[in-house]
Amino acid sequence: MNYTVMIPAAGSGKRMGAGYNKLFLKLGAQPIFIHTLKVFEDDPACEGIILAVKQEERPEIEAILTRFGISKVRAIVEGGTERQYSVAACIRAHTEAGIVLVHDAARPFIRRAVIAELVSQANIHGAAIAGVKAKDTMKLAPNGLVEKTIDREQLWIVQTPQAFQYDVLKKAAEEAEKDHFLGTDEAMLVERMGLPVRMVEGTYENVKMTTQEDLVFGEILLSRVQEEEKE
Ligand code: CTP
Ligand code: MG
Repeated sequence: MNYTVMIPAAGSGKRMGAGYNKLFLKLGAQPIFIHTLKVFEDDPACEGIILAVKQEERPEIEAILTRFGISKVRAIVEGGTERQYSVAACIRAHTEAGIVLVHDAARPFIRRAVIAELVSQANIHGAAIAGVKAKDTMKLAPNGLVEKTIDREQLWIVQTPQAFQYDVLKKAAEEAEKDHFLGTDEAMLVERMGLPVRMVEGTYENVKMTTQEDLVFGEILLSRVQEEEKE
């Protein structure tokens, strides 16, 4: 089943501490965001990419897209001061019914099998998001005092992609805007409307390149992916 992907890339990467948008940092020979876009470029089920960027970075990003042969970008929109606003700009640039994915440009290690499962589950349930089970024991400790241990089986660490029927995402985003509600992911906007969101088991390698340590891990993951591609 086909889908369109919306990719927010308009952040500033403060926690990475590079002094500029971390997405331009290289993993192997390519900028982080190119690795992410390549996954969708190469997925036959992906019909188009909508990218949110900072206005001042647009020329450089366009040049890099051309240099690395990314051809599926259908629109480049101006991002906002918050991630949610950048995604909202992508949503406004899209009109077609069908399944849309939202995926962080900073997560280059997403697997096509997970994408396919998300698309299929969103088609059934309206919304489906990728996540992994917590590996460590999880405790609830308000103000640093342990109140209880939480059943790990029920806890998910949430990632992107998050997949939606387009009308569900659009309505959720409009309602959030109307209420001045700022969520930390798109699923939250759907949850607050009382609509179902299905969890899909993703992979631990789908880390967001956030701090310097993530780049070390990223280089290792990249060599593994490249080995697989040779096989
Ligand atoms: N993003 C965006 N618009 C924003 C903020 C973030 O499009 N106003 C994008 C980032 O470019 C990234 C994704 O959302 O691809 C996830 O955000 P995050 O990892 O937090 O990136 P930054 O916000 O750039 O990093 P930091 O929070 O450390 O400044
Ligand atoms: Mg951020």
